[in-house]
Amino acid sequence: MAAIGTDIAHARELLCKDEVVGMPTETVYGLAGNALSERAISKIFDVKNRPKFDPLIAHFSCLEEVEPWVTDFPEKLKVLAQKYWPGPLTLLLPKHPKIPDLLTSGHPRVAVRVPAHPVAQCLLNELDFPLAAPSANPFGYVSPVLAAHVSAQLGHKISYILDGGRSTVGVESTIVGIESGQMTVYRLGGVTLEEIEDAIGETVLQTKSTSHPAAPGLLDAHYSPGRKVLVGNISENLRHENPDHVGVVSFKESHAVPPLNLFVLSPAGDLTEAAQNIFAALRKMDQPHIHKVLAEWLPEVGLGRAINDRLRRASF
Ligand code: TXA
Ligand code: MG
Repeated sequence: MAAIGTDIAHARELLCKDEVVGMPTETVYGLAGNALSERAISKIFDVKNRPKFDPLIAHFSCLEEVEPWVTDFPEKLKVLAQKYWPGPLTLLLPKHPKIPDLLTSGHPRVAVRVPAHPVAQCLLNELDFPLAAPSANPFGYVSPVLAAHVSAQLGHKISYILDGGRSTVGVESTIVGIESGQMTVYRLGGVTLEEIEDAIGETVLQTKSTSHPAAPGLLDAHYSPGRKVLVGNISENLRHENPDHVGVVSFKESHAVPPLNLFVLSPAGDLTEAAQNIFAALRKMDQPHIHKVLAEWLPEVGLGRAINDRLRRASF
């Protein structure tokens, strides 16, 4: 079983031996390994049970560390990097040949990000290689926002998890790239669509998710708490259910189900708080007596878009 602790030197030692470790970031916890080592990358795919067609994000300590590993850094993306790094933003940039094809699943672009979490920063500063790190959950399951979540799902497969407390953003990074000259958002996340459009002064294209393997990063079925999730009018849908056996994930209001079955994302109606709670809420619904989960759409603005995206994918 994995030990949970705050020993950066121990994590470094493991990573230098191509082992993988749990790492806190401000978005969600990652499963980290040397992004330049095929052995370490393979271990990440194995531990997560992740198909090799779904590429990994490389994490760096700062923008300057990213530059040698990409062959072009378009000005508009650099503007975003300067504004939002370190932070919940991932950029797709043409990869340097020295980046293993295994990391990018053979794609010509590499996903790069500079995390803001102080523990991740500290660890990256101790290393002379970037860290590949997908969210530290089994493929298709809910992302972890606590070291204990990583331990519950992957603790039997890894030896160490760095503890950095609760992830403060709560949803993954926003993934942005340029395709045919058009600024494109591939995954909504911690930096909002509005913030990106503001920063670059133009509207951005949003790609739709898909279950087709050729479109990585956008798999439809994801974030599953292991039972059916129905997103709609909770009060209406609750009428047809036995309240003892349904879970409810609501935005602001309470509903008539046992407290063990209920998660109100933000009683104050705050989208930042709702984002911090969404994965803990979906995780809470993974209880044997809960047969179905009722949830509702949040306002489709700011972080509400990212939360709705996770709910939609959890409902597949
Ligand atoms: O916030 C985050 O981004 C977290 C933390 C740990 O940094 N990481 C994360 O990684 O969410 P992961 O692997 O769970 O999701 C990354 C997504 C994947 O769906 C993958 O398909 C997409 O990014 N992606 C990675 N590299 C890509 C590439 N070269 N081209 C297109 N999509 C890519
Ligand atoms: Mg993930």
